[in-house]
Amino acid sequence: RPRVLSGIQPTADSYHLGNFLGAVRNWVTMQDTHDAFYMVVDLHAITGGHEPKALRERTRVSLAQLLAVGLDPQRSTIFVQSHVPEHAQLAWILSCLTGFGEASRMVQFKDKSAKQGADRSSVGLFTYPILQAADILLYQADEVPVGEDQRQHMELTRDLAGRFNGLFGQTFTLPRPYIVKETAKILDLQDPTSKMSKSSSSPAGLIELLEEPPRSAKKVKSAVTDTGREIIYDPVEKPGVSNLLTIFSALSGRPVPALVEAYEGKGYGDLKKDLAEVVVEFVTPIQRETKRFLDDPAELDKMLAIGAAKAREVASATLASVYDRVGFLPPL
Ligand code: TYM
Repeated sequence: RPRVLSGIQPTADSYHLGNFLGAVRNWVTMQDTHDAFYMVVDLHAITGGHEPKALRERTRVSLAQLLAVGLDPQRSTIFVQSHVPEHAQLAWILSCLTGFGEASRMVQFKDKSAKQGADRSSVGLFTYPILQAADILLYQADEVPVGEDQRQHMELTRDLAGRFNGLFGQTFTLPRPYIVKETAKILDLQDPTSKMSKSSSSPAGLIELLEEPPRSAKKVKSAVTDTGREIIYDPVEKPGVSNLLTIFSALSGRPVPALVEAYEGKGYGDLKKDLAEVVVEFVTPIQRETKRFLDDPAELDKMLAIGAAKAREVASATLASVYDRVGFLPPL
């Protein structure tokens, strides 16, 4: 079986539809076809200042949501990044192979550091993509299901793997990004020229898995649509309606052309009303299940202990061969 690995940050409060449709949905299906490793990347979550108690809580809520949408500890290894010290250890070695200019060209870093200013941006934010490369390479992953915004980080990961292999001998598998075109970039409901994002979307532009379902319904109904009245799929001319069709199709399983046909002659209001119902039906059981997993912290801890042990087995074997190839003396 090919191996799949992916990670997600423990965001505050709730994941959003972009996270789910762009990435996590594919994690769930790949459990059946791949040897799967999925993690909550808490090390990545401290690059910009945080509150320790809140981070602990966020990590648990994140895990509960992942289980609620269908990750299954029987079929995949689910763990927390900081439980596996090899991530930070490999990141150091890879950082010594990364050019300063090369890291400076990472678009996510440039965007965030431009917003915050150089003196307010941590070195951790700068080296973030190198830690992500370590996350992936430690597990010799073949495929990495992510959204479009992670493409450049994936290219860096492949470059670093190739560079290490060239310098020190074949060590790492070159991972492929697994990006499903249709859902690779879910857009902000209020500003369909930019992606749905926890950090940049307005609350009205963001559908959160754990918010009150009537709130989600209201957001769908007040989503920005385009000029004209026709419901057609045209991401360039009609990004708002097209985004709603994408979400509708992904959540209902009905192909976009079938939806377009079904709404011929109807208005935006009809589409939004029906999509609002679909969204409510989708999030309601997720909320119930998330609560159920949060109500049993002992069970969650048990799963994490098993996950960490399985992850460390793979990660420590990779790191041992990396240390050897790099030329570190074996520990006595
Ligand atoms: P993160 O936590 O920001 O997002 C998790 C996943 O959700 C995807 N995503 C989207 N997909 C489509 N449309 C959107 N609007 C949207 N918003 C978010 C992201 O592409 C991502 O796949 N750096 C990563 C976490 C990470 C990682 C890894 C991923 C750390 N180590 C190793 C893969 C492998 C991140 O911040 O994702």
